Amino acid sequence: MSQYVPGLQGVPATRSAISDLDGQKGILTYRGYKIVDLARHSTFEETAYLLIHGELPSAEELARFDDKLRRNRHVKYNVREIMKFLPITGHPMEMLQTAVASLGMFYPGEECLTGSGSCADLDYVENMTVKTLATMGTIVAMWEHMRNGEDPVSPRADMGYAENLLYMLTGEEPDPLHARIMDACLVLHAEHTINASTFAALVCGSTLAAPNQVVASAVGTLAGPLHGGANQRVLQMLEEIGSPDNVDAWLQETLANRGTVWGFGHREYKVKDPRAVILQERMEELREHKDGDVSPLFDIAVRLEEEGAKRLGPKGIHPNVDFYSGILYAEMGIPSDQFTPLFAISRTAGWLAHWREQLVNNRIYRPTQEYVGERVREYVPLDER
Ligand code: COA
Repeated sequence: MSQYVPGLQGVPATRSAISDLDGQKGILTYRGYKIVDLARHSTFEETAYLLIHGELPSAEELARFDDKLRRNRHVKYNVREIMKFLPITGHPMEMLQTAVASLGMFYPGEECLTGSGSCADLDYVENMTVKTLATMGTIVAMWEHMRNGEDPVSPRADMGYAENLLYMLTGEEPDPLHARIMDACLVLHAEHTINASTFAALVCGSTLAAPNQVVASAVGTLAGPLHGGANQRVLQMLEEIGSPDNVDAWLQETLANRGTVWGFGHREYKVKDPRAVILQERMEELREHKDGDVSPLFDIAVRLEEEGAKRLGPKGIHPNVDFYSGILYAEMGIPSDQFTPLFAISRTAGWLAHWREQLVNNRIYRPTQEYVGERVREYVPLDER
């Protein structure tokens, strides 16, 4: 009756009302609202509320949610102590996974999770949602300073999520345009149907594990270069290409060797990812703001997109969300190995929204397999082999 489908391509893994996409038309919606409208008019806080609670908040609901997020930004001193022992040469995604995995030890209570919405302790669910979402940004920013032998920059409660994140990362009050662009980036990365990391979150959550463990599983899954880790690879690739004039030859050689063009291609989109369209526009806006004084990597990326359209476009392979995000982050002074952690901060909203949705009617994931190994056979003692 059932058939193995590699990568579960086209196999529905859940039933969800959180987001939807049309890969042929390039449309992504969160709870029915187009991503382009949310990136233009909403904030990360409002979008997170929308994803988690299902509707746009009233002014009062948003103020309450935002206030809770601001009051929960501090990270326990002992989490910082754990981080101190991690090697500074390690990837920040590994640090993030470790730190978030430890949160449940400081905020216990997962025994209340029963998998039935009516039995779950709603305060625990809500408190852990806010705590995890609020502290992800602080943890990522703390590490940036700790690995450079500096004291972390304390969060500021008078700033919104994006502005405070940039402030904590750089130690300086950010340019308002940078803060607006970061806010849009957080909105754009917050949710994307059942991708690999969200699926990992759902599998973990289905065992009634604690929400920080759900997020830790998802962080580990996001880290790989075929998923969120691609944004860091894009920057390395553009640096390797070195100049718009080299794009053609580089692309030809890469494709001839069956190499990967990072930031291109998507399982679902057969046109340009709508998030890449918006990120490219933001980059144009930033270039204008800086009187053209932005990294030449942007011109290389634009040329690569043009050439890629000729060679990969006919196969339905176009720029995805990771193609322009790293260039934007680099313009804001963020090191390239922190790009994927930024993605994780934002996607935490989506992961937790899915976790909560699933809890209401939970069933443990336990798929089957097509066994292709040996049939039952006799054990051979060691001295007879
Ligand atoms: N560069 C070069 N070729 C690519 C490509 C890319 N970025 N993405 C897909 N292809 C090619 C594959 O080589 C394959 O070619 P073939 O049919 O000749 O074997 C074909 O397109 C189908 O790709 P496949 O890897 O089977 O698609 P998928 O749906 O399993 O994978 C991705 C989707 C995202 C993993 C894939 O496009 C990719 O590796 N992209 C680069 C990494 C990236 O940017 N990830 C972030 C995603 S948001």
